[in-house]
Amino acid sequence: MSKDYFDATSGCWDEMRATFYTERLRERAFQAAGVRAGALSADIGAGTGFITEGLVQRGLRVIAVDQSAAMLAEVRQKMADAVDSRQGDAELLPIDDGAVDFAFANMVLHHVSSPARAIQEMARILRPGGTLVVTDLDEHDDVALRDAHCDRWMGFKRGDMESWLLAAALTDIEIGCVDERCCESTAKLTMFVASARKRPAPSIPPGPIVALVYRIPPESRTEMVAFLRRAFPLYERPGGIRMGLFESADEPGLVLELVAYDSDEAYLRDQERVERDPKLREVLAEWKRLVNGPVEVRRMRPLAI
Ligand SMILES: C[S@@+](CC[C@H](N)C(=O)[O-])C[C@H]1O[C@@H](n2cnc3c(N)ncnc32)[C@H](O)[C@@H]1O
Repeated sequence: MSKDYFDATSGCWDEMRATFYTERLRERAFQAAGVRAGALSADIGAGTGFITEGLVQRGLRVIAVDQSAAMLAEVRQKMADAVDSRQGDAELLPIDDGAVDFAFANMVLHHVSSPARAIQEMARILRPGGTLVVTDLDEHDDVALRDAHCDRWMGFKRGDMESWLLAAALTDIEIGCVDERCCESTAKLTMFVASARKRPAPSIPPGPIVALVYRIPPESRTEMVAFLRRAFPLYERPGGIRMGLFESADEPGLVLELVAYDSDEAYLRDQERVERDPKLREVLAEWKRLVNGPVEVRRMRPLAI
């Protein structure tokens, strides 16, 4: 099991790691993220803190997560109070929603059972506008390497990585090469760096706003969020309209859906479109089915002050 393997190798991981990949990989990951001093970052599957240490050196605060207590003990020994270390699973991160500016996972996803789930978790903990970076092996056929290091996945197809990032509703996806090979002296496997951003919080356009307040029943929450993720881009496509979803900080399940327009004309165009377009009528019917309760609707105009 990978946990036993990493518990056992924690004491010599730094030397082993240096034979697999070097600081060049870390630099490439930081460059892809655009890290900045003062920001808060998560290092998922932190190991002995290879990524964490580089982030701390650049003035970031770090939450280091790993399944292995022995690995985290090494992190604490090196960086003591500079790092918030948390034992936990990459597929169920012990970090609140929207808490961090950056999330890194270096050479971790080939150990988890569901990489798609781990990416969704990284997306969940990002603040709007935050960036995640995954660095890992391209798909390979080196069975001996997999067995020696208890890997679950023999690297990844970049196309799969892209699909998982898209499914986590991330934007600005970029997947590129790393300028070095893993296990340079022996296997020479290629690696990729994948970065993506969580949609930024909507800025408020200057026109009218329609505010819809309703409750999402707990049993349809997951379905509703997935539905809105697909529906918002459909409504926003013609331009002149931005949509955002907010949840009450006090009453879980109570949400505010904001539809903000650039102008009165954009609002009127949208009303016409919703009536005429069969696809949008279908989407509206599906939304009503999922809400299945009263909706308070308020149309507001900007007030010059
Ligand atoms: C190959 S090491 C990489 C460590 C570090 N990121 C680095 O670059 O040196 C993989 C790390 O991921 C951790 N890991 C593996 N599966 C995990 C999971 N499901 N949840 C959390 N950590 C995991 C292991 O304990 C190990 O420390």
